[in-house]
Formats: sequence, C-alpha cells, structure tokens
Amino acid sequence: MHRAARKDDHVRLAEEQQLRLPPSEFDDLEFVHHALGGVSTEEVELSVQVHRWRWPTPFYVNGMTGGTDLTGRINRELAVAARETGMPMACGSVSIALDDPDAARGFTVIREENPDGFVMANLGAGRSGEDAVRAVELLGADALQLHLNAVQETAMPEGSRDFSDWRRSVAEVVAASPVPVVVKEVGFGLSRSTLEVLADLGVPVADVSGRGGTDFLSIENARRDLLTGPDYSVLSGFGQSALACLLDAPAHAPVLLASGGVRNPFDVVKALASGARAVGVAGTFLKTVLDGGAEALVPLVHAWAGQTAAILALLGARTPADLGRTDLIVRGRLGEFCRLRGVDLVQLSQRSSAP
Ligand code: FNR
Repeated sequence: MHRAARKDDHVRLAEEQQLRLPPSEFDDLEFVHHALGGVSTEEVELSVQVHRWRWPTPFYVNGMTGGTDLTGRINRELAVAARETGMPMACGSVSIALDDPDAARGFTVIREENPDGFVMANLGAGRSGEDAVRAVELLGADALQLHLNAVQETAMPEGSRDFSDWRRSVAEVVAASPVPVVVKEVGFGLSRSTLEVLADLGVPVADVSGRGGTDFLSIENARRDLLTGPDYSVLSGFGQSALACLLDAPAHAPVLLASGGVRNPFDVVKALASGARAVGVAGTFLKTVLDGGAEALVPLVHAWAGQTAAILALLGARTPADLGRTDLIVRGRLGEFCRLRGVDLVQLSQRSSAP
C-alpha cells in the first residue's frame, strides 16, 4: 500500500469519526463554582509559557498531515488560520517527504503561508538523528514533535511491531535535533512511568495525547477493509484519556501539553486546570477546515479564545496558570482511574483553600 494513500485514508476516516465521538472523560471533570470569583474577562491574559516559548493562545493545531495533494491543501488552510490568529501549528509526520522529495510540497506550504509563525515538524519514533535534522530544516521548524504510536502501529495492517529501539531513538533525536523536541502520543496517552522515562531522556516537552477523540485503532481497523491484516478491534478502548494522564502525571516530567478529544473551549480550560501548559487540537480543527477552510477556522479560533477568557474569569483565574487553584471534582470513569492509581481526589477538590 502506498504511504500517500494512507494519508488520505486517515483524513477521511478521522473526519467521519468527528460525527460520532464516544462519551468523553472531559465530562467527568467538574469545577466547584464560586460565585464571587472577582475577575473581569478584560483582565484575562491568555498567552502561555511553554518551555522557552511564549504562545499567544493556550491551544494549537496538533500534528496531522501532509504529503499528498489533498493533505497539502489542508496544511495550507491550517497555516493561513495559524498566521491570522497567531496560533502555533504542527504538521503530520514528514517521513514521507524525507523519503520522497515530491511529497515535500505538502509540508513546505506551511512555511510559505506562515513565514513567522510557530511551526512544529513531526516524525515518528524509530527515525535517526539525521532525519530529525532534515525534518526541522524542511520546515524551518521551531520545535520537533516526535510521536510514539505503538498502539496505532499494532493495529495498522502494514505497521511495525518492533518497538525495541524506541528509547534509544528518542535519546538520539533529542541529542541531534537543532530545536527542542516535543514527544507525543497519537491518542492513547502517556503514562506516569513513560513521562518519567522521557524526563530522564532529557525530553523538554511532552503532549500526553490521550484516548477519547480521534481513534487510530478504529481508523486502522477500518483500513483492513481495504488491505488485509489481523483484526485489532479487540483492543477498543485501550489507553488513557488526556485528563487521566494529566492528573496521574509524576512531579518529574517534561513540561506537559495535552490533546485527544478536545471539542470546545471548556475542554481546553479543563486540560489547563489539570496541569497542561497548552492544548493540542486535531480532529475538531480538521473537520472545520474540511467544511469551510481557513475562512471557517479563523472565526472559530477567535471565538474559542474569547470563550476561554470568559470561562477563566468565571473561575476566578486571570491567567491559565491561575487555574491551578481551581477546585476539581472528578467523577465517573476518570474518577475510578484516578482512585485506582492513588491520585488524591480530595486534595484536588479543595485546591482553592490550600495554603
Ligand atoms: C493525526 N495525528 C498525528 N500525530 C502525529 O504525531 N503525527 C501524525 O502524522 C499524525 N497524523 C494524524 C492524522 C490525522 C488525520 C489526525 C486527525 C490526527 C494525531 C493527532 O496529533 C492527535 O494526537 C490525535 O488525533 C488526538 O487528538 P484529537 O484528534 O482527538 O484532537
């Protein structure tokens, strides 16, 4: 199967998924409402510090695509929206362009449209330090996303099943990359111990990218209709949600980003309050640009920023960092996961009164 066709399959199947997302663990997290919060929306400052960068919005376009005509057009629309709003943006895995220079245009279009914006290149674990340098150079990237997608590879008919070299590969990419590396999952979560290993490997930033949004188990399984391969639908529901990863994260971890199933500004605020410095959005923004291009995404981003600021004011927070003092009530499947993992839910519910 040609890799370029896979890119288009992913977009088509991810778009279909947006119409029937599963129950979300974002709905298991509630805030205690305090009616005298004392903050005006006008005073709210939404920009966030992520590692050595200042990002104007606390959310960004997560890594998705590039390498074919269709996905190059999608990247162009995403890049225009990123330029018009100041929102950071990642592209999908550039491996295809490293192996096939004809595929590069679907990525370089991002820099053409957005020469001064914050752009992240993207590669999968297992690639070499030299590939990391080429990936960053291709886009003039400010950071390099390195994805760990063992679950997806397992379910992918033509996927790799050998993950034995990934720690060494992460260390090699971190050492070789000319820009900071953001290690991410692709929708199955980064566990407490994985985050500790990443910190030990010198990874400065990690996106926990959890279960609940775009589901690559189901996408790869649907591709079995086109290719032959074993049925991995038995793994359905595998992995942790973004909020589960954040609430269970260790003290010794990279700077945390979150993604996976972010549908609206309230989900953004919930991830920020649970410890994410910024929040990645893939499926929701993909659907928006497929429906209406940058013309639809720009007003959506402005609306999200306005609503995020208003929700911060409602919660008594002048900045995303102030959300660390909100009281969180964790229920349902998310609550059960946290209890079984020994997360102190009582302490989380009383953060506003902590000394
Ligand atoms: C992705 N994602 C992804 N991630 C990555 O690191 N490299 C990649 O090449 C891709 N490709 C890709 C294609 C498409 C069509 C989608 C929708 C997503 C994963 C993405 O960055 C994110 O981790 C997950 O999609 C979960 O976030 P959402 O979609 O639930 O917001």
